[in-house]
Amino acid sequence: MRDSPIRAAIKGTGSALPKNRISNAQLAEQVDTTDEWIVERTGIKFRHIAGDGETTASLAAQASLEALKSANMTAGDIDLIIVATATPDQTFPATATIVQNIIGANGGAAFDVAAVCSGFLYAFSVAESMIRAGSATNALVIGSETFSRILDWEDRTTCVLFGDGAGAIVLSADSSGKGALATKLHADGAHNQLLYVDGGPSTTGTVGKLRMKGREVFRHAVVNLTNVLNETLESANVSPQDIDWVVPHQANSRIIDATVKKLKLSRDKVIKTVDQHANTSAASVPLALDVAVRDGRIKEGDIIILEAMGGGFTWGASVIQY
Ligand code: UT7
Repeated sequence: MRDSPIRAAIKGTGSALPKNRISNAQLAEQVDTTDEWIVERTGIKFRHIAGDGETTASLAAQASLEALKSANMTAGDIDLIIVATATPDQTFPATATIVQNIIGANGGAAFDVAAVCSGFLYAFSVAESMIRAGSATNALVIGSETFSRILDWEDRTTCVLFGDGAGAIVLSADSSGKGALATKLHADGAHNQLLYVDGGPSTTGTVGKLRMKGREVFRHAVVNLTNVLNETLESANVSPQDIDWVVPHQANSRIIDATVKKLKLSRDKVIKTVDQHANTSAASVPLALDVAVRDGRIKEGDIIILEAMGGGFTWGASVIQY
């Protein structure tokens, strides 16, 4: 019997959240907002905020160890680590090298990818291409963020929306037919002033704070996500009816609902964690994936579609046989 072509298949998942979990009501004690407004406009109820000693790298390492455990692998099996993040521990070295050292996977390739909320999709695409090309065998692909550290806590239009966390997957070469069937990425730099950080090493010499024109981002998100979902499904030769689970970026419950409606998909097929995690940027897709794998909704053989859109703008989607 002929083997299927080499694909990159997900062998394990893991996630990590800071200990400190904050409700909307707790936030409303410090910020001019209400639980009602946040739930109605976004679906968010809680977010986790990193405390002392919790960083993008430490959360990423914790999520990676969980993912390795669920894949029945050890750090020594890993020859590629990619961390998607917009909130690295330091400007350099890459957070991936810090993670590599913490988990004891030294020697393979390790680097970061910066595509903000779409970062995990971008990192996934790079890792799966490297695996198919034969330049990596077992990769850790991680989305990890501590957005609480770049939020303007005086700006109620942004600070209520984000949270901290990490999600990781082990991605391995596989010839059983499982794995990534199609991945599509896009960017449009013309809109980079709608969602950005007002600082950086080469401009202000500061870290800066997140700024967003929410309403405009919302509008672009629904259009771009609908288009890329259709494009990716077509490329994978999969119809929307064949999808078992959609694992979307968790920015806003209303964006998820509007996108799913345009695809004529049932809301029952959507993994939503935005209520518990808020928007964790690059961590949101792998965090949601890990939740749904661990609670038994996503099973081996299922057809899943991942999607995300964020600052840049950047956006993308991937159809995967789990
Ligand atoms: O992950 C990257 C992608 N990011 C996103 O996808 C975010 C996309 N955008 C959104 O999710 C939504 O646009 C928001 C949740 C950010 C905002 O929802 P909206 O329905 O677009 O509200 P809005 O910005 O139009 O503001 C409506 C009102 C304003 O008051 P006025 O001018 O109507 O009197 C705001 O000042 O809500 C007010 N407001 C708030 N009120 C209470 C804004 N933030 C808050 C707040 N609490 N936290």
